[in-house]
Amino acid sequence: MKSLIISPLRKPMAGVVTVPGDKSISHRALIFGAIAEGITQITGLLEADDVMKTVEILKELGVTITRQRPGQWRVKGVGLRGLRAPKKILYCGNSGTTLRLMTGLLSGQPFQSVLTGDASLNARPMGRVIEPLQRMGARIVEEKKNDLRLIRIKGSPLKGISYTLPVASAQLKSAILLAGLCATGPTTVIEPTPSRDHTERMLSAFGLSLKKEGKKTTLVAGQKLKGIRVLVPGDLSSAAFFVVASLLQSFKTKSLTIRGVGINPTRTGFLDVIKIMGGRIQLEKQKIVAGEPMADLKVFPSVLKGTAIRGALIPRLIDEIPILALAALMAKGETIIQDAAELRVKETDRIKAMATEFSRVIHPKAGGALKELVDGLKIRGERRFKGRPVKSYGDHRIAMSLTIAGLLGEGIMRVQDTDCIGTSFPTFVPLLRRLTGSVREIGD
Ligand code: S3P
Repeated sequence: MKSLIISPLRKPMAGVVTVPGDKSISHRALIFGAIAEGITQITGLLEADDVMKTVEILKELGVTITRQRPGQWRVKGVGLRGLRAPKKILYCGNSGTTLRLMTGLLSGQPFQSVLTGDASLNARPMGRVIEPLQRMGARIVEEKKNDLRLIRIKGSPLKGISYTLPVASAQLKSAILLAGLCATGPTTVIEPTPSRDHTERMLSAFGLSLKKEGKKTTLVAGQKLKGIRVLVPGDLSSAAFFVVASLLQSFKTKSLTIRGVGINPTRTGFLDVIKIMGGRIQLEKQKIVAGEPMADLKVFPSVLKGTAIRGALIPRLIDEIPILALAALMAKGETIIQDAAELRVKETDRIKAMATEFSRVIHPKAGGALKELVDGLKIRGERRFKGRPVKSYGDHRIAMSLTIAGLLGEGIMRVQDTDCIGTSFPTFVPLLRRLTGSVREIGD
């Protein structure tokens, strides 16, 4: 098991960096490319463990996927009915997006498939996905085999439904829409609050006609997808760690620019909150590629103040809450995060992980505090961290947040169990090392 040793920043975190491709868009480009007709050419694909699980599963289902250069991938689409029965269990590792989206896609295929994941993924809820798919006619059972949870899909004809999602989840919405592609009749999903809409944008880019009216999205079955070129923007969820570090650094003179980051409005709650907190970020070179907006983020060191993060904002920044909570601890005054109970069923119970580990790094001589709520956190900011031994609970976003706390704090921080960073941001450590010289990896 690897650990990171982090010392406080010794020089300004400034200059220009590029973060890897967006995870959500990378999964979708591969999956839609696989069921399209013709070639899909992807540039900037995120080459991280989670996305590679989607690649391996699609290959097992008979799709030819080739890596041509770093980030440059070619998918030879087999069409909606061209997947072949897998010969082995489909292993999703830590990737919730792979498991949920593939469950939706495979439920309408004319063969049996079995999906599983690592211990963390096997503990995450699947009932929310299975239930609506069963209403569409899917034959899916959740089985326990020793320590494994297996999702067994018999593959059956499906019919479209109209379904109101009980939670704002893009994975759930996408699973139902993917099943809807193979169903008869229209499929409608109604969201309680809008969640990320990459599936809708990308299906349209692949030539599908979708009807979107407010919180309601309808897809009519029987349409074909046509292979396209996809340019994957940088992942805002990865950029967020660099944004917070450069905003809160004690060197106040220079700016950091993060190039080509996705700024889809269903994802930019993080930027909205940072601005409300007093953070100075300029969006430069804005453009739209394959339906997805992107920009360079120019970040200036700033003094932050506390705020309230709740309601419809939550799905727009769900993955950024760990790093926002740290920013709140370094801000002036109180921050309250509510309506975020979904955090309890992420890669780990993130509310508990933050309450435990982030409390450890609050400087004993400062008045900062962090209180666990059922659906969030109450934070009193005090602008000081202290380096300590802390752990990630195998959660990439907790690991990276604690690493940033190490750069901003006093003394040496040791973050245990950091292999998980590879699930979403394999270049995090080298990038941070190049930029700061303050991060070192040890052990195995
Ligand atoms: C994702 C949706 C979100 C997010 C996850 C990626 C996606 O999960 O937290 O990291 O790609 O659709 P939920 O759909 O469970 O909210």
